[in-house]
Amino acid sequence: MASEIGALARALEDVRTVQKRDPAAPAWWVIAGSYQGVHAVWYHRVAHWLWQRNMRSYARLLSQYARRVTGIEIHPGAQLGRRVFIDHGSGVVIGETAVVGDDVLMFNGINLGGTTMSPGKRHPTIGDRVVIGAGAKVLGPLRVGPDARIGANAVVVKDVPDGATAVGIPAVIRNHPGPTEASTAASAVDSGDSHRHPNPDAPPEPVREPAMYYI
Ligand SMILES: CC(C)(COP(=O)(O)OP(=O)(O)OC[C@H]1O[C@@H](n2cnc3c(N)ncnc32)[C@H](O)[C@@H]1OP(=O)(O)O)[C@@H](O)C(=O)NCCC(=O)NCCS
Repeated sequence: MASEIGALARALEDVRTVQKRDPAAPAWWVIAGSYQGVHAVWYHRVAHWLWQRNMRSYARLLSQYARRVTGIEIHPGAQLGRRVFIDHGSGVVIGETAVVGDDVLMFNGINLGGTTMSPGKRHPTIGDRVVIGAGAKVLGPLRVGPDARIGANAVVVKDVPDGATAVGIPAVIRNHPGPTEASTAASAVDSGDSHRHPNPDAPPEPVREPAMYYI
């Protein structure tokens, strides 16, 4: 999760993240000036800072203003890691008790939402390097393990194991071919295939009991 570096360094890191992960990325100053997903993260950083210092009304006002100008609603209580990139962005909602790890990639129309009106932890915890496809809904205080991928328009209501791919409504775990065998444009949006996070040096994954059945 996020470690402390200066605000400007974090902002530059956000722009560099877009350059790395968006095959259509323009010049840095166009990204900084126009990418709503980047702006939403920047607004959130300030709102979260206010929230943590008990200036909650100001935090809420700022997050609602950010929603109006970016189309992305991030509750100021939500915790976002470093290099989180919301691509396209419009229609994203991230709830108060959501936790989003480092290097998470999200697209438009995503909801990290709750399923209960009770206060307390009610939103998901998203691991590092997770990719969440456009339109996906991840609902409840569940855990999406690091390196998992959530398919476009999936509705996830149970834990997703580390590195797994979850698709459909309700989402089920689907084993997928190896990183070199990606067969759809959706999963290989750029030549670096930013929808996967292969680590060639990583040891083999331990066998885990999935929370969702495999198809
Ligand atoms: C989930 C995803 C990561 C899977 O990629 P992948 O591992 O390369 O898997 P494949 O595309 O080979 O598909 C594997 C199977 O899952 C199915 N599948 C893939 N994505 C799916 C989705 N979103 N919903 C339902 N089924 C899906 C495929 O039809 C295929 O089924 P089959 O084995 O019966 O033929 C990818 O399809 C996806 O949805 N990425 C998000 C892309 C996105 O949101 N882009 C927005 C850009 S603006």
